[in-house]
Amino acid sequence: MLEKWIGVLLLLLVGTFTNGLGAFVGVNIGTDVSDLPSETEMVAILKAHQITHVRLYVADAHMLRALSDSGIEVILGVTNEEVLGIGESPSAAAAWVNKNVAAYLPSTNITAIAVGSEVLTQIPHASPVLVSAMNYLHKALVATNLNFQVKVSTPQSMDVIPKAFPPSTATFDPSWNSTVFQILQFLKNTNSYYMLNAYPYYGYTKGDGIFPIDYALFQPLPSVKQIVDPNTLFHYNSMFDAMVDATYYSIQALNFTGISVVVTESGWPWLGGSNEPDANAENAETYINNLIRRVLNDSGPPSHPTFPINTYIYELFNEDKRPGPVSEKNWGVLFTNGSAVYPLTLSSSYPSGNSSGIFCVAKTDADPDKLQDGLNWACGQGQADCTLIQQGHGCYLPDTLVNHASYAYNDYYQRMRSVGGTCDFDGTAKTTTVDPSYGSCKFSGSSNSSTIGGLSPISAIAPSSPVGGWSSNLKVSKLQYIILAAFLPLFLF
Ligand SMILES: *[C@@H]1O[C@H](CO)[C@@H](O)[C@H](O)[C@H]1NC(C)=O
Ligand SMILES: *[C@@H]1O[C@H](CO)[C@@H](O)[C@H](O)[C@H]1NC(C)=O
Ligand SMILES: *[C@@H]1O[C@H](CO)[C@@H](O)[C@H](O)[C@H]1NC(C)=O
Ligand SMILES: *[C@@H]1O[C@H](CO)[C@@H](O)[C@H](O)[C@H]1NC(C)=O
Ligand SMILES: *[C@@H]1O[C@H](CO)[C@@H](O)[C@H](O)[C@H]1NC(C)=O
Ligand SMILES: *[C@@H]1O[C@H](CO)[C@@H](O)[C@H](O)[C@H]1NC(C)=O
Ligand SMILES: *[C@@H]1O[C@H](CO)[C@@H](O)[C@H](O)[C@H]1NC(C)=O
Repeated sequence: MLEKWIGVLLLLLVGTFTNGLGAFVGVNIGTDVSDLPSETEMVAILKAHQITHVRLYVADAHMLRALSDSGIEVILGVTNEEVLGIGESPSAAAAWVNKNVAAYLPSTNITAIAVGSEVLTQIPHASPVLVSAMNYLHKALVATNLNFQVKVSTPQSMDVIPKAFPPSTATFDPSWNSTVFQILQFLKNTNSYYMLNAYPYYGYTKGDGIFPIDYALFQPLPSVKQIVDPNTLFHYNSMFDAMVDATYYSIQALNFTGISVVVTESGWPWLGGSNEPDANAENAETYINNLIRRVLNDSGPPSHPTFPINTYIYELFNEDKRPGPVSEKNWGVLFTNGSAVYPLTLSSSYPSGNSSGIFCVAKTDADPDKLQDGLNWACGQGQADCTLIQQGHGCYLPDTLVNHASYAYNDYYQRMRSVGGTCDFDGTAKTTTVDPSYGSCKFSGSSNSSTIGGLSPISAIAPSSPVGGWSSNLKVSKLQYIILAAFLPLFLF
């Protein structure tokens, strides 16, 4: 059984060289969901959770458009149904690239094409043309001069590595030798990376008790139960690290070096049937939060300590329409209304800085006209500093009303809260303890912002109006704040 425990699960690890940039955690977006939000709502949810990397299984035009100018990087999937056609026809590959990739770059930041999903084990009949499909897609990218921006790879499951422990002796299943060899040669030649789907959930549940659950969940192991590779004497703190390392050693066994591994899928179901006791919310919360912490510590697995393990969580929403056992439908980390299934922090700045703790943001479902009025007012009479939401500045993207209003509302609120400024804006705003900062866009009041709380001197009494101007919709209460905004600093400084 030992030889089987991990093999069942190893998925594709796709590695990228992000030396110095730090590792990231992304999210897979499956769409077999009965109440799937609109594409715009999904992007708003991604932004609200500060998700910076996503993988789409299907090239959906609406979603690709909604992701434009979001700052979110995208791995775009070729479906298993499409692999055969593309693998047999360079012109089909070119058409696919033109329609789904070239048409959206650069505003939608597609950085990789994932050719199929676990092709070798899911649709073995297509494996003879898999590398052709990758080659044709790559050539189409070269033809459109996009090959430096967009990598081509193919996610594989851990099943292609039948005996994954100890990692140092792991090899790809010999029956896949020639295909795997060609894949690795392609990845090496095109400076791409290996995509791995790695599921300790399956490694544990199919391991018949060989491995303690704590090992699968990244929990500390008692010293007598440490998992050590007898050949290298490396300690494996987690099954996840062992899966990644088994992949590195398997690649090495075919004499390839310098190909990094990126985990394109990893997760834990939070609900299962009566025969799936390990699929529960407590384990899922433990696994996902420990996974995020593990990845964001930037270190690699024992054999490649300087190769960060960039990882995409499986998955954003429960896919209730998927066939199979109960657990198959319950891998989501968020509900479709955007709230988390269990407490988690997806932001790559994990753990997010705590600070004054309260932020004011726009409601995503607010009436757009009211939001525009609120934004105009905040940046005008409210005297929020709206520089960063101007084009070319750090908080301009995503270029949406909700994002700009959130920034402006919050800046106003941080300045004026202590003197009675409220977070209302005609019902279009709400307070939150989640720091809305993302990337280089730091919201006022964030622990890393230079404008933490407090009032900054306002140079002129006359309201300046960097964006928009006076809103005719002002209420009396807001007029009072105008007066406060204009005069209080004079008393306080
Ligand atoms: C797209 O992502 C790449 C890779 O991280 C990054 O270098 C590039 O600046 C991004 N492009 C845009 C337009 O955001
Ligand atoms: C596959 O590669 C392994 C390692 O190089 C080798 O031992 C094995 O004989 C190969 N199998 C086939 C079918 O080529
Ligand atoms: C890898 O390289 C070693 C040393 O050059 C050689 O002995 C071995 O046969 C090679 N293995 C494969 C699978 O090419
Ligand atoms: C990062 O994670 C690795 C693997 O679990 C662990 O060995 C290392 O101590 C961690 N480093 C830090 C700084 O937490
Ligand atoms: C979101 O949906 C979940 C599941 O339906 C529900 O439990 C939760 O209360 C909802 N949250 C909000 C903020 O509406
Ligand atoms: C604050 O910013 C600095 C420099 O950009 C960064 O090194 C640090 O991790 C940030 N801290 C938090 C809590 O975001
Ligand atoms: C954040 O919160 C933790 C736990 O409450 C506390 O130990 C830490 O000092 C806080 N850090 C900041 C920057 O407020």
